[in-house]
Amino acid sequence: MWVWSKLSAAKWEDAWEERFYGNQNAVVTGLAGGKSVRVDVYCEEHQQALEIAEHFGGSVRELVETDWVAVSAKPGPPIKIRDSLLVTSEVDPAGLREMKRLNEGRIVVSIPPEMAFGTGDHPTTASCLRFLADEARARRGQAWRLLDLGCGSGVLAIAADLLGAEACEALDYDPRAVEVARHNVERNGASGVLVEEADLREWSPGEPYDVVAANLFADVLQSSFEKIFRCLRPGGSFILSGVLREQWEKTEEAALTAGLVFEVVKKKGKWFSAKGGRA
Ligand SMILES: C[S@@+](CC[C@H](N)C(=O)[O-])C[C@H]1O[C@@H](n2cnc3c(N)ncnc32)[C@H](O)[C@@H]1O
Repeated sequence: MWVWSKLSAAKWEDAWEERFYGNQNAVVTGLAGGKSVRVDVYCEEHQQALEIAEHFGGSVRELVETDWVAVSAKPGPPIKIRDSLLVTSEVDPAGLREMKRLNEGRIVVSIPPEMAFGTGDHPTTASCLRFLADEARARRGQAWRLLDLGCGSGVLAIAADLLGAEACEALDYDPRAVEVARHNVERNGASGVLVEEADLREWSPGEPYDVVAANLFADVLQSSFEKIFRCLRPGGSFILSGVLREQWEKTEEAALTAGLVFEVVKKKGKWFSAKGGRA
């Protein structure tokens, strides 16, 4: 395991967040005094870390195994979403049974921290999950299908499946995310989820979906809105997240141009999330 690190002025914090958005192994840490931040990206391959250094400067060092365990294995507390979901890093069957017993009525989703984004504790994932829980409630008793663009750990598609979606398609261009998502689908018995490796920019939609979720970096979203419009059935819902405050105006404009409007816009810290549909 290797880590690329760089010190930077605190005013560039958002720019670093944007640059590595979706990378579960990138960490931006504010340093004492508040004037600077340290950016660390943990890489499995030396070459990956060297490529980042080639682009952005900074330094690369090898991480001893014990350090890596300390970085990756820091499960947070379970995340409760509305009254319907509980997302936990617990994987032990006895622990999960106990969690289900203590949280009767909630669907328990097990997502351990691995090499893919989406354990539920990031504000953008949590916002998507809240919108999804609302959609599932509104669509109860109907057959609905979900498309998850940039699925990371698969948490959104898995949650949708367990909340009653008839079928869920999830895609990610990162082969490690696809592998993790497939494991998570199996782990959670979410048999209606199909995970594919695909780059959204080259992927073509087939049948339209009732719900499309996309927790993606603003640039990718903006260039994909026309495709997302075509993926969405009239009357369907579009859930979006991953947009930083200063990118919101441009993102909303691009969505409108593509025929998508947002009815609900939520701000959580510096992140914008929204739910809408075809205009
Ligand atoms: C912020 S994570 C979201 C993960 C999960 N859906 C969630 O809400 O927590 C974004 C994911 O999108 C993937 N991604 C980014 N650009 C993509 C693209 N052009 N095509 C497919 N996947 C992409 C990344 O690999 C990453 O796993």
